[in-house]
Amino acid sequence: MQRRIPSVSARALRRWTAAVVVVDAAVVVTGAAVRLTGSGLGCPTWPNCTGDQVGSAGLGLRGAIEFGNRLVGIAAFAVLVVTAVLAACQRPGRRDLRRLSAGLVAGFFANGVIGGITVLTHLNPGVVAVHFLFNMALLVAAVALHRRAGSAPLAMRASGPLPPLARATVVVAGFVLLAGTLATGSGPHGGDPGAPRFHLGPLDRVTALHADAAMLLTGLVAALALVARATPTAHATRRATVRLLLLVAAQAALGFTQYLLDLPAVLVLAHVAGATLLWLAAIDLDARLRRPPAPAAVLDQMPAARPAALLGSALPA
Ligand code: HEM
Repeated sequence: MQRRIPSVSARALRRWTAAVVVVDAAVVVTGAAVRLTGSGLGCPTWPNCTGDQVGSAGLGLRGAIEFGNRLVGIAAFAVLVVTAVLAACQRPGRRDLRRLSAGLVAGFFANGVIGGITVLTHLNPGVVAVHFLFNMALLVAAVALHRRAGSAPLAMRASGPLPPLARATVVVAGFVLLAGTLATGSGPHGGDPGAPRFHLGPLDRVTALHADAAMLLTGLVAALALVARATPTAHATRRATVRLLLLVAAQAALGFTQYLLDLPAVLVLAHVAGATLLWLAAIDLDARLRRPPAPAAVLDQMPAARPAALLGSALPA
């Protein structure tokens, strides 16, 4: 006798995909807290932390912070696995959602291994940078999954000048993140006093490359917000461009402030949290223009409806 697999509503799946974005972003910010409290080598072994035993008993505050970050990672992994299982149980199934969620599980696992390599290489700044940037790439997949879970299977992408501008913003923002990791890898917050550093020349010069790229990004986002205002654009999309502009302005102000104050750890942590929010806003805008959201009523009946019936449901971007 064949067993019936319970189906999952589009609305429930969308809630889980939102949780995936939140927990993945939390992993980025708690990872930065590990680095900024100098707790990168707080656990001598990986993944257990204390030799043969699991936990940070006897390792003090730094061990607790580093082990706490691993627990956040495990919780995030659990959310990812549940989401992938739910996507697999959806009827009728969506191959794009199944693939993206399974890819996220594999990618997150791989990044956990990179996290282990950062400890084994005594916080080599190149490995630390890859660990951070890989997680930012996973956020792109997480946001795409969330957007797709809330749009019709064959939703039509937006046209006009906004989509290429939004795509350019993501590319430049990605470069700003990369240059930021070079500044971090050359600066004083390596995660441990003995952590190796990049030798890329004076810190001021490396920081200037990052700040110049950030200025280019600010100009691009300002142009994006102006174009959204000047062309027929959905209200929600216009609001998203304004949000992005406010985030980039705040982030640039924070960047200059922390630089002028000689990088106090608490401001650098706020800078990493701001970078995560800004990145989320940029990739979400890009994803929204590629996959316009479906109206709530359509979302409610999505698993039961045939894709062809949903084709015409996409809203203008
Ligand atoms: C506006 C967009 C900006 C974004 C998205 C951004 C993002 C980032 C990121 C992702 C990092 C690396 C974090 C890590 O590896 O853990 C970083 C580091 C840094 N950023 Fe920015 N940043 C921006 C603007 C600026 C500006 C305008 C300055 C001005 C000087 C600045 C100064 C720095 C410095 C000094 C570091 C190194 C901090 C450390 O030692 O860890 N940033 N930034």
